[in-house]
Amino acid sequence: MESLKKLTEIKERFTNAIEACGDMKTLEDIRVRYAGRKGELTGILRGLSDLSVEEKKEVGRTANILKNEFNAKIQEARERLEKQPEKRGAATDVTMPGTLPRVGTLHPLTQVMERINEIFVSLGFRVEEGPEIETEFYNFEALNIPLDHPSRDAFDTFYVDDGHVLRSHTSNVQIHVMQGQKPPIQAIMPGRVYRPDAVDATHSFMFHQVEGLMVDKGINFSDLKGVLSVFCKSMFGEDIKMRLRPHFFPFTEPSAEVDISCIMCKGAGCRVCSGNGWLEILGAGMVNPKVFEAVGYDPERYTGFAFGMGVERIAMLLYGIDDIRLFYENDVRFLEQFK
Ligand code: PHE
Repeated sequence: MESLKKLTEIKERFTNAIEACGDMKTLEDIRVRYAGRKGELTGILRGLSDLSVEEKKEVGRTANILKNEFNAKIQEARERLEKQPEKRGAATDVTMPGTLPRVGTLHPLTQVMERINEIFVSLGFRVEEGPEIETEFYNFEALNIPLDHPSRDAFDTFYVDDGHVLRSHTSNVQIHVMQGQKPPIQAIMPGRVYRPDAVDATHSFMFHQVEGLMVDKGINFSDLKGVLSVFCKSMFGEDIKMRLRPHFFPFTEPSAEVDISCIMCKGAGCRVCSGNGWLEILGAGMVNPKVFEAVGYDPERYTGFAFGMGVERIAMLLYGIDDIRLFYENDVRFLEQFK
């Protein structure tokens, strides 16, 4: 039957068109063309009058079923297209949560160094800096470490060229500061230092120190002890105890090593303090008159104290870090823990 064949053909074209349809405008064209008032199905229904009664029934019924089917498919396609955001012209969903940029933080060593500086600044010290590439005079001789002195070994370093070294401690800055100004002097001197040590969990060829120096008329050992005990309590807590052990440094006399009661076990003895309850954190002493002579100060008029501490050591104690190499690997998983 002619009309039924035509309906099958219309259905086929409609189905292809609706499946390929990707936007609302095309969908509307399809609706008008196939299911609209002047569309193809209506056209078939209009022509029914020319057919026999039997045919009318059959074709009319099929055309109506198709009309419902077409309308349902069109509705379905509309809903599908409405869910496609780009087809509605909105490329960005402004209600979606954003991606946070990764914000960096200060390196834990920088944070600890700044904390140390802050404490001494609050006690009236000024922050001074000096060169990392240094002459032997500033790293050794002016600090009473002559070439033939056995303690030169303890402060051995890398030689850059004849006469220039990478400083092995920040004590070189003491000399620069004293040459540049007259007493009273109250300075702290943070910076990098270098030593030809084999790298392991507690040694590095490069690390950080903070040096301290106070020079004036009448400065004595109890001033040293007072300043350092204020520092230890501010840094590690009010209940921390401090003790001085006799030691030797060429640039101070008398000299001491300074211990604090173990911050882990409070002095009871544990793995961190090797069971003895104390942790060594810095070296200190009264400025050796020889050092004053090297910078042209009169040792009969002035006295002073100096101290030097390792920043890595203090940071490792504060944060419970057991391997110094972690500081230098730049692994974000380590660094991002110090926010
Ligand atoms: N320069 C010494 C060191 O690196 C520390 C120190 C500084 C000791 C000042 C006494 C006075 O070990």
